[in-house]
Amino acid sequence: MSDLLAALNALRERLTEVPQADERRLRELKTEILGRKAGALTHILAAVPSLEPKDRKAVGGVANALKRDFETAFAARERELKRASVAAGDLDLTMPGRAGWQGGLHLVTQVVDEICEIFRELGFTRAVGPEAESERNNFYALNFPHDHPALDAQDSFYVGDGVVLRTHTSPVQIRTLEAYPPPIRVVIPGQVYRRDPFDPSHSPVFEQIEGLVVDEGVTFVDLKAALTAFARRFFTSDTTVRFRPSYFPFTEPSAEMDVRCQICKGSGCPTCKQSGWMEILGSGMVHPAVLDNCGVDSERYTGYAFGMGPERIAMNRYGVSDIRLFWEDDVRFLSQFARPHR
Ligand code: PHE
Repeated sequence: MSDLLAALNALRERLTEVPQADERRLRELKTEILGRKAGALTHILAAVPSLEPKDRKAVGGVANALKRDFETAFAARERELKRASVAAGDLDLTMPGRAGWQGGLHLVTQVVDEICEIFRELGFTRAVGPEAESERNNFYALNFPHDHPALDAQDSFYVGDGVVLRTHTSPVQIRTLEAYPPPIRVVIPGQVYRRDPFDPSHSPVFEQIEGLVVDEGVTFVDLKAALTAFARRFFTSDTTVRFRPSYFPFTEPSAEMDVRCQICKGSGCPTCKQSGWMEILGSGMVHPAVLDNCGVDSERYTGYAFGMGPERIAMNRYGVSDIRLFWEDDVRFLSQFARPHR
């Protein structure tokens, strides 16, 4: 027992060596004193259980306290050495860093901005309107008959009496015509809502870009020229387009515009359902009844309007096969299109 206490006292002396130790010496000291197999203090602690009960307490207490003192001293010296080595320039500055995470604009937002930018060059201003819209602006002022199926709650989301989530961006035509006198040239991006289930090509909420031009002497030739110029700027300069007769209550005559499928270049593929064409917008000459509803003189002014779907356009241009990917917010998908923004 006294042998053990003497040995512990001798060990305590060696605490003074710790603050002077260099890295190698520190490792040696740790093994010498606290090493799991041959450590001096480890040996003493291992002998404690075989002592008489009263001695066990005395020796055990001293030995455990000493163990804690050594551990504290070792840790303090290790911190000191580490700090000194960093200060001395042992830091490896060539080690590749961890790249910071950077956000970016959603692909659909990028496409919307790009489309609006092309129209800006053609003299169009960018405008917006609310997503909750009156039935009057969304339907009646646009010359929809009162029994039109789109007015059915089966097809549209009603948020109150006479208020719907707009089913298209065309009501902003009404707002624009009522707020500004011609000449008018606007593009209006925004989200619209329809009671459609989510599937690869439908979503209950999607993006549209509306266009409206009203002035004296605007003709169908202006419509074709502007929309063809847009398609050639957005896709490629040799892109072919075609206009097909169509029907909308608020335009007359009406036409849908197709562009050559960007994926198969017209030879037919699953994305264009083998047609070689992709429908990108509806358009037409503003119906005189719409101008009259907004207090614009339809004898003096004419105009054209169009509405396109940026998601569909983005899907065709980037080969995205499922519209739902735009809503899942999976960064593994979105980051493929990340561009540093300006
Ligand atoms: N609002 C129409 C739609 O959602 C598109 C359109 C806009 C057609 C403007 C003609 C003129 O389908």
